[in-house]
Amino acid sequence: MEKNNNNLRADITPSGNGQALSNGNGAAVGVAAQPLSWKQTIWNTWDAFADVLWFIICSIGYILQDLYYIAFGYPEKELKADIALVTGGGNGLGRQLAERLGKLGTKIIIWDINQKGIAETIQIVEAAGGYCKGYVVDISKKEEVYKAADVIRAEVGDLSA
Ligand SMILES: NC(=O)c1ccc[n+]([C@@H]2O[C@H](COP(=O)([O-])OP(=O)(O)OC[C@H]3O[C@@H](n4cnc5c(N)ncnc54)[C@H](O)[C@@H]3O)[C@@H](O)[C@H]2O)c1
Repeated sequence: MEKNNNNLRADITPSGNGQALSNGNGAAVGVAAQPLSWKQTIWNTWDAFADVLWFIICSIGYILQDLYYIAFGYPEKELKADIALVTGGGNGLGRQLAERLGKLGTKIIIWDINQKGIAETIQIVEAAGGYCKGYVVDISKKEEVYKAADVIRAEVGDLSA
C-alpha cells in the first residue's frame, strides 16, 4: 500500500481485467482511494484547527509583548556577564567596539590576522579596565575558525554576544 499526500489510502489494485492500471509512462497508478474513517476525519480537522489556533495565540502574544515594550521600553541587556567575540578587532570599528564593550564589563575576545593590531587593542581595552584576549585567526579559513572556537571554549568559556 502506498500513501499519498492527501491522507487517503491508495491501493494499487488490479482493474477488472486483472491488470493494475498504468499511467502514460507505463507505471501502475493508484485507484480505489478509500474515504477516511470518521475518526480520522475528526482527528485531521482537530489537528488543523489546533495548528491555526496556536498560530493565532502566538501572534497575539507577540503583538501584546511588543506593544508593552513600545509603551514601557525594551528590557536592557546585561552585558557584564557576557563574553563577546570581535572579529577584525585589531583595528578600526572592531577595536572601537572592543573598547566600548570592555568598559561595560564584557569579556572581549579578538580575532584578527594582524598580530600587532591585536596587541594594541588588548592594551587599549586593559588600560580602560576591561578584559581582553586576542588570537591570530583568519576568519576566511573555516578550519582556523573551528580551531579557534575550541580554544576560546576551553580557555574562556562559551560566547554569549
Ligand atoms: N569604517 C567605516 O566607516 C565602515 C563603514 C561601513 C562598513 N565598514 C566595514 O566594516 C568592516 C571593518 O571596517 P574598519 O574600518 O574597521 O576596517 P579596518 O581595516 O580598520 O579593520 C579591519 C580589521 O579586520 C582585520 N581583518 C581583515 N581580514 C581579516 C580576516 N580574514 N580575518 C580576521 N581579521 C581580518 C584587519 O586586520 C583589521 O584589523 C569592513 O568590512 C568595512 O568595509 C566600515
